Amino acid sequence: MKFAALTFLVLFAALGLVAASAHAQETIQATGNGGYFQTDKAKQARQDWILNCQGCHKVDGTGRPDKGLPDLTGEVSKFLAVEGGREYLSRVPGITNASVNDADLTELINWLLLRFDPDNIPADHVPYTTEEVSQWRKHPLSIDAAKTRESLLAKISNKHSQK
Ligand code: HEC
Repeated sequence: MKFAALTFLVLFAALGLVAASAHAQETIQATGNGGYFQTDKAKQARQDWILNCQGCHKVDGTGRPDKGLPDLTGEVSKFLAVEGGREYLSRVPGITNASVNDADLTELINWLLLRFDPDNIPADHVPYTTEEVSQWRKHPLSIDAAKTRESLLAKISNKHSQK
């Protein structure tokens, strides 16, 4: 009887531990990447998103795919895994034309990857730097954006079908 009570106690303690770590996990998710979404720069990026991007992409990034406005959620970071994708994300017209300075634009791109598609960010991904974004910004994709996008999506889907 005593033994049973002891077993029960140990089990109970173990359950408590599991619950505690599940709680910690939830907290990380809620605050986002160890609190990144609570930082001033992340809040600024969100603000920039609302002012410059949500008109087409919606606040939640889901866009209007039926109107050619891509859904970024669970998708956008896939571009990082194919050649030319990193550059593409920094050269689409919506990005290059935004009325935010280079540093804020860089943060906005880094923010949107984490915000809308954290799961597809490749393990070896290095966040965008202001230097590269300001360079690519000078070479916006205009009429060729749709074509570039199609060819990258083909690469993405090839990659997935190879798995
Ligand atoms: C006038 C509508 C419009 C605005 C405003 C806009 N975008 Fe876009 N965005 C598009 C369209 C359309 C595409 C698809 C590529 C293309 O044809 O330009 C796109 C593509 C993208 C992509 C690549 C994802 C993909 O699936 O191709 C990203 C990332 C992106 N936009 C981010 C932004 C950000 C950040 C802003 C604000 C600074 C912004 N966009 C503002 C219309 C817009």
